[in-house]
Amino acid sequence: MIKVALIGCGAMGLMHLHCYKALSKNVQVVAVADTDSKKTEEALKICNNNVTVYNDAMTMLDKESLDIVDICLPTFLHTKFAVAAMEKGFNVFLEKPVCLTNDEADLLLETQNKTGVKVQVGHVVRFFKAYKWLKETADLGKYGKIKSAEFKRLSAYPAWSPMLMDYRRSGSVALDMHIHDADFIRYLLGEPDDVQVAVTRDNEGVIQHIFSTYKFDDTIVTAQGGWDFPQGFPFTAEFLVNFDKATVVLKDNMLTVYPDDAEPYSPELISEWGVNVDIGANVSYTGDYYDEIKFFIEEVIINNKPDIVSLADAISSTRLVWKEIEIAGGVKK
Ligand SMILES: NC(=O)c1ccc[n+]([C@@H]2O[C@H](COP(=O)([O-])OP(=O)(O)OC[C@H]3O[C@@H](n4cnc5c(N)ncnc54)[C@H](O)[C@@H]3O)[C@@H](O)[C@H]2O)c1
Repeated sequence: MIKVALIGCGAMGLMHLHCYKALSKNVQVVAVADTDSKKTEEALKICNNNVTVYNDAMTMLDKESLDIVDICLPTFLHTKFAVAAMEKGFNVFLEKPVCLTNDEADLLLETQNKTGVKVQVGHVVRFFKAYKWLKETADLGKYGKIKSAEFKRLSAYPAWSPMLMDYRRSGSVALDMHIHDADFIRYLLGEPDDVQVAVTRDNEGVIQHIFSTYKFDDTIVTAQGGWDFPQGFPFTAEFLVNFDKATVVLKDNMLTVYPDDAEPYSPELISEWGVNVDIGANVSYTGDYYDEIKFFIEEVIINNKPDIVSLADAISSTRLVWKEIEIAGGVKK
């Protein structure tokens, strides 16, 4: 049985707990930590009161014997606790974005190299069914080369999360939300040769919407990520990818393929397990989070297979977004 402890029982932490519960054949959550007792109470409910609760995560790391530490803390705290967990010899599941600074990224990589533990980062979009289908189809070359693509990720202003609204703790919409597409684009096409960036900012000069254009040889890809929309605006994640021999569109959660020489069709995208849970955020479906956590536990930890989102790879995506922010003139002007 793989023993897991979770640090940070906010929105993402609760999401992960639901997934561990569904994976209870191989996994047992033995401890949770959060400085907010209301949050640990919610965690206890999901775990049927069957975990040890800590309000100090460092004490938990000292006392517990663990296989995995799952870190769902606000981004500015990721490095401190990931380094402490690695130093104890525990494998780490670390939520995205990895961290806020280059020094932190270097320290994380150094610590992983020194300790040899496994670290997967929560770039869950790589596990989303439509994006996974797109990556597999592109790799197979079924419709030829990608000529151009656009990705979009838009949300109501994250008034539900003081952490997200504070760019010093989250890194802003660019690092917190747009990174999902930046990371997926790197996964799909590799490192871009060139990036151009435009942003809109709020009255305080903080980036609220980023528009990036990536160039790969003769392929052009755009991605926009914004969260300055009204509270009633529905969360929107879409793409349009133009291959040599087909166009593929994700819109309103529906994936449609328009081949050059056949009728349009929608690939069947099946989830192994998925329910909607209320975690107090703009995501509720467990399916893709279940898949990424199951992959880490069963393939990476138990079967010793290479990871789909290694720490080094996720740091490269983080560095790409830092570069975009720098091109735009900084997170805050
Ligand atoms: N992969 C995804 O789709 C996705 C979605 C949402 C959030 N995230 C990421 O997950 C991370 C957490 O985001 P969230 O929305 O769950 O935030 P949140 O604010 O809802 O939860 C963070 C929790 O950490 C706790 N905490 C703060 N300081 C602590 C400390 N020192 N020790 C123990 N607990 C502490 C808070 O009390 C809170 O419960 C962020 O990095 C975010 O970017 C990822």
